[in-house]
Amino acid sequence: MNTKLMAQRTKNANFTIVPLYKNNVKDFDTKSLCGTVIKKQFEGEDKDILTVLSTDGKQKYVFLGLGKESSPKVHLYIRSCINSLKIKDGDQIDILVNHCDEETIEQIALGAELSAYKIGHFKTTGNNVKAKVSIILNKKHTASATKGLHIGAAQTSIMELVDYPSNIKTPDYICQHATRSAKKWGYSIKVYDVPALKKMGMHALLSVGQGSVHPPRFAVLEYKPKGSVNKSPVLGLVGKGISFDTGGVSIKPSANMGYMKCDMAGAAAVIGAMEIAARLKVNTHLVGVIACAENAVDGKSIRPGDVISSYSGKSIEVIDTDAEGRLVLADGISYILKNHKPEYLVDMATLTGSCVATLGNVAAGLMTSNDSFAEKIAAAGDKSYERVWRLPLWNDYASEMNSDIADIKNLSTRPVAGAITAAKFLEFFTEEHPNWAHLDIAGVAFTDSEFAKSRTATAFGVRLMLSLIEGLKPKKTK
Ligand code: BES
Ligand code: ZN
Ligand code: ZN
Repeated sequence: MNTKLMAQRTKNANFTIVPLYKNNVKDFDTKSLCGTVIKKQFEGEDKDILTVLSTDGKQKYVFLGLGKESSPKVHLYIRSCINSLKIKDGDQIDILVNHCDEETIEQIALGAELSAYKIGHFKTTGNNVKAKVSIILNKKHTASATKGLHIGAAQTSIMELVDYPSNIKTPDYICQHATRSAKKWGYSIKVYDVPALKKMGMHALLSVGQGSVHPPRFAVLEYKPKGSVNKSPVLGLVGKGISFDTGGVSIKPSANMGYMKCDMAGAAAVIGAMEIAARLKVNTHLVGVIACAENAVDGKSIRPGDVISSYSGKSIEVIDTDAEGRLVLADGISYILKNHKPEYLVDMATLTGSCVATLGNVAAGLMTSNDSFAEKIAAAGDKSYERVWRLPLWNDYASEMNSDIADIKNLSTRPVAGAITAAKFLEFFTEEHPNWAHLDIAGVAFTDSEFAKSRTATAFGVRLMLSLIEGLKPKKTK
């Protein structure tokens, strides 16, 4: 972790950040801190920044407004504030938090940790300007701050994975990343290569990956809290891990195709959710599966009109090779249901442009037939500020996916309701599981932001799943 937790302020810190809620401003003694009374110039509105120079002119005090009340957006304010400072390599930033509540301290630690993330991974010069960041706090706040730092560090590793280019980030690389995370944080993982996938009958995943020089992989990640006696997990997670999506033979237009390196963000979110559960030692048994392949254009690739099989035994007519995510997810869903029988099941995928057109970059699409599960996920979304918005999953949409030649086809007949018909396809493989939900994260996993010039990873799903897990009651032990 990049951020330090300290009991004492650093001598001569270059920057001292003081986050203040509106109602802190009146009573906070800024005069003895930096020699200036700020309440006339600073109201503490959301994201307001007031910088005051110390009397000797050597240190900067940065007052950051947090608005009216504790909010899950505070980490964004902190990240943005730190990023806006003109730092020189080795500068020291102190953040004072003892006047804040625990929720805010967790948010501040999260934002501080996220602020260290720089996307210039391959720059040979200029990407090494780093500040040292310390949070100054009393011992009683350590648990909240540590939790925020863990979440920030888990998210950062997922952001890095999603931002990595696809020539390096092959299906195997994604699974190696998961393996390193599992070893480091103490959860188990098993990775399956092509011969193993053939034996298992993972036909849909193999079909999607058959045109790539980077062979597909499938991994099963399991986190079991100490003393857990139930065999089946409370929550099963399935992630779409397309390391690059050219569209295959149904090739995508070249403009912005490079963004399709993010098409494994669902799998990355599953890895991140497992990692944060293990880092925080949550009390919930989890299993995650990631179905990884590259959707490439090649003589060996699947083509429109092909009929393929799947792990479930059901046959699929491939109408469009660009609707590949649902194919690999079908195998992931069937596999986890048969082998792990989770009580709740969530899949996460950058699945459709239709979802982006519907909800933009603000919320993920949530599709489930279970109202109370939908409410739980929506509440977790509000709490984590990784929000979801529910779309219907009525049966009226199902007939769009009927195939003449096979059990189902991978693309609806008409170009309408694409996010929903994709979910209807997935539903076909869920064996009517009562607690299944699908999250289409295409619009939220990789977006424009103030933190970079082009679209970058958000690690969406990591905090959402943590909040969901914290809200799910562990299964009663028998
Ligand atoms: N990976 C894409 C979906 C996507 C779009 C992800 C935008 C991130 C941002 C998916 O595999 C895809 O190509 N979907 C097609 C489906 C089409 C063939 C019906 C789409 O949504 O355009
Ligand atoms: Zn596609
Ligand atoms: Zn895709």
